[in-house]
Amino acid sequence: MRVGVLTGGGDCPGLNAVIRAVTKSLIQHGRCEVLGIEDGFEGLMGGTPRVRTLGWRDVSGILHRGGTILGTSNSGNPLRDEDTVQQVAGHVRALGLDTLVVIGGDGTMSLAHGLQQRIGLPCIGVPKTIDNDIAHCERSFGFDTAVATATDGLRRIESTAYSHHRVMIVETMGRHAGWLALESGIAAGADVILLPEIDFDLSVVVQRCKEREQRQRYTIICIGEGAKERGADLTVRERIAHSPEPMRLGGVANVLRERLQPHLDSEVRATVLGHLQRGGDPTPFDRVLATRFGHRAAQLVIEGASGRMVTLQHGEIGSVAMSDVAHVQRTVPLDHDLIVTARDIGICFGDR
Ligand code: F6P
Repeated sequence: MRVGVLTGGGDCPGLNAVIRAVTKSLIQHGRCEVLGIEDGFEGLMGGTPRVRTLGWRDVSGILHRGGTILGTSNSGNPLRDEDTVQQVAGHVRALGLDTLVVIGGDGTMSLAHGLQQRIGLPCIGVPKTIDNDIAHCERSFGFDTAVATATDGLRRIESTAYSHHRVMIVETMGRHAGWLALESGIAAGADVILLPEIDFDLSVVVQRCKEREQRQRYTIICIGEGAKERGADLTVRERIAHSPEPMRLGGVANVLRERLQPHLDSEVRATVLGHLQRGGDPTPFDRVLATRFGHRAAQLVIEGASGRMVTLQHGEIGSVAMSDVAHVQRTVPLDHDLIVTARDIGICFGDR
């Protein structure tokens, strides 16, 4: 049996651990050959497919390494048009691929699902994202590492905040989901956490900063990149995406800084953590989760399954139909235990 493996979408710590576990499990099972496809779906597009055989030695020593040895891309859409679909189908036939293991986020799952429907290539998905926003999966690998990195960033900001008596705004990634801002904000002891799920009132944030100006003399605000002020039509990312002119905004943290500063005596500074959150070696938790996911994906391949994505639900590794995951994003429920806990210990979410 010939099994293709690719990593699609933004990179994330733990990708190599999945590649390693899938490859080793399939090789150990026997009668399986693993082909690594380069740069996501792009490796199956164009005149010549870009693939390489993955043997035991190719995946040894990569468990702890961030990024992906296969490369990844956001841009390759195998369903772009009929010609592209036929080109991909031709490459799949020529390579003799029986199944494709696709490691990616919701966008990659949608493409894999569509590809399976169009050309009949069985696909198995493995959920990857630092945003932790994949439906039917309580924790994607990479998230734990990103929380640790963002928490470290917030803690470093805190020491300069209290020294200078400043209001410091720290922006995390996460797209339209607030998981990363919420967990890193709580872990770092942020005073205000602003999430995409809860539109904030500027006056509430101002009031919290003023209270702290009187007592602690500094404030840490952790804001998810998809957060928006009540009454604003679009998030900053959406404004940038819709703008005909290149916008000079440095993210939602800078917009909030401009809005807050006129109301406060303290100086306000903004930090965008950016791609730091996607880089670096995976934490032990992510290495273990990624290994479990990769192993389960290989088992699904061996069982002859298709159109399934590996999941973690209630602490157990399982799988769901890819069609249930495609185009769905898992945001933080407003009554989530973490939000309730944070509110009860006095963290401000900027709402009334
Ligand atoms: O989905 C992962 C993610 O890191 C988001 O948190 C972030 O909005 C986006 O990717 C950034 O993408 P890019 O690397 O294309 O700027």
